[in-house]
Amino acid sequence: MQDEELRQKIKELVTDEEVAKQVLMTRELMTCYRCAIMEVETKFRVLDEKFSLHGERNPIESIKSRVKSPESIVEKLRRKGLAMTPEIVERELNDVAGVRVICSFVDDIYTLADWLTGQDDITLLRVKDYIKNPKPNGYRSLHLIIAIPIFLDDCKRNMKVEVQLRTITMESWANLEHKLRYKKDLDEEVVAKISKELFECSQLCDLLDAKMSHVKSVVAMHEDDDD
Ligand code: GTP
Ligand code: MG
Repeated sequence: MQDEELRQKIKELVTDEEVAKQVLMTRELMTCYRCAIMEVETKFRVLDEKFSLHGERNPIESIKSRVKSPESIVEKLRRKGLAMTPEIVERELNDVAGVRVICSFVDDIYTLADWLTGQDDITLLRVKDYIKNPKPNGYRSLHLIIAIPIFLDDCKRNMKVEVQLRTITMESWANLEHKLRYKKDLDEEVVAKISKELFECSQLCDLLDAKMSHVKSVVAMHEDDDD
C-alpha cells in the first residue's frame, strides 16, 4: 500500500472512530435527558399526592413531556451559528428536555413551582414569568429552567430541563396560537385580525382563570365552615 493510500485509510479510520464516538455520546446524552424527564415527572406526581393530602384535591390535570427532536436541535444550533456536538448541545440548549404541567388554577402553578424549586437536589437556573408579564401576543405560562441530578452507573450528572407550568385555559390558548404561527399562505390582513382576536382570547382566559380561582376560594371557605 502506498503512503498516500495508507494516510487516507488512517484518516478515514480516525474519522469513523470520531464519528462513532460522537454518535455514542449523543445517544448517551439523549438517554440522560429522558432520565431527567422521568425524574421531574415523578417529582410532580409526588407533589400532586402531597397537595391532595393538604387540599383534598389534585392540582395537576396532566403532564406532557418531550425530548427535542434531533432536527430541531440541529436547526436551533444552526440559528445560533453553532456546530452539533454533545458538549455544545448540553452547554447551549436549555430546552432539550421539556416537561409541561397543566394545572387547574393559577395559584397551583406557583405552589408547585415553589415546592419543586425548594427541593435540595433541584437547582433553579432561570425563571420567566409570562403569567405576571404576558408576552405582547397574549402568551401566558410560567417557565423554569432547572438542573436535576440523574444517576447512571457510578456517575451523577446534572441535566437541564425546561418546565412550563400553565392552566388549562393557557394551554388551549397556546395550542391555538401555535397552529396560527405555522400557517403559511395567510394574507397579512387575516393574520392581523386573528392575532387581535387571539389577544382578546388571552384576556378572556385571564379573566376566566381569575374567576375560577375566586369561586374555588369561596367553595373552600364554605368547606371550612362545614368542618
Ligand atoms: P425558544 O423559544 O425555545 O428558542 O427559547 P426562549 O429562550 O426564547 O424561551 P421562552 O421561555 O420564551 O419560550 C420557550 C417555549 O415556550 C417555546 O418553545 C414554546 O413552547 C413556548 N412559548 C413561548 N412563547 C410562546 C408563544 O408566544 N406562543 C406559544 N404557543 N408558545 C410559546
Ligand atoms: Mg424551545
